[in-house]
Amino acid sequence: VAGHFWSPQLHIYVPFPKCVISLLLQIPDDEKGYKLDLFCVPKHYEEDLDQVIIPHGLIMDRTERLARDIVRDMGGHHIVALCVLKGGYTFFADLLDYIKALNQNSDKSVPLTVDFIRLKSYCNDQSTNIVKVIGGDELSTLTGKNVLIVEDIVETGRTMETLLSLLSECNPKMVKVVSLLVKRTPRSSGYRPDYIGFEVPDLFLVGYALDYNEYFRDLSHICILNENAKEKYKV
Ligand code: IMP
Ligand code: MG
Repeated sequence: VAGHFWSPQLHIYVPFPKCVISLLLQIPDDEKGYKLDLFCVPKHYEEDLDQVIIPHGLIMDRTERLARDIVRDMGGHHIVALCVLKGGYTFFADLLDYIKALNQNSDKSVPLTVDFIRLKSYCNDQSTNIVKVIGGDELSTLTGKNVLIVEDIVETGRTMETLLSLLSECNPKMVKVVSLLVKRTPRSSGYRPDYIGFEVPDLFLVGYALDYNEYFRDLSHICILNENAKEKYKV
């Protein structure tokens, strides 16, 4: 990874000083995850999941740090946090709680307003080539604003590239993107968000608002969906 060195203690690539922006926590391809029995998982999903790959507590700890990085970079400006529904809603709520906590407890604070957009690109476990905007406010309200787009996961990058091009027509003052997850996949367009929570293997993940045909949003941990479940919830 250009501009980074591998830290064996932290299991992450650490950037050399000054290029802090793409700091991320990499979950390796051979990550075993955790047995479901070690954590609390809803009874109705016990048969559907292989492992817990990111426990809820770790998501929260990483989110707390993302909030700090965002305030460091965007602090002093009014931020419009734009939640990409539906998958982004849990991360959005938790991230904003951490930003609010920083606002309440430091000398520097950022006024925050919120906005929502609904996009859809997935059917079963496949990204379709069409990204549809199916709801939300007029993007024109974002003209001249500092916009922070909050997304759950970037896979091919097509959803984010589509949203960024729609948004640029409205001339916002600044646009930053934070995505909880980025998938390491050959299908990637090469697009990278400004802030990344975790880089994950090329698997279909559910939980913490990530869904499979609308199921599994009501699961706190990020888990690997098993093959049986892909059949069971197929549309
Ligand atoms: P992209 O356009 O290929 O980058 O896909 C991004 C969108 O696909 C995300 O916003 C998710 O809604 C969905 N997505 C991609 N991978 C997964 C996954 O592993 N689990 C659940 N949803 C996913
Ligand atoms: Mg999404």
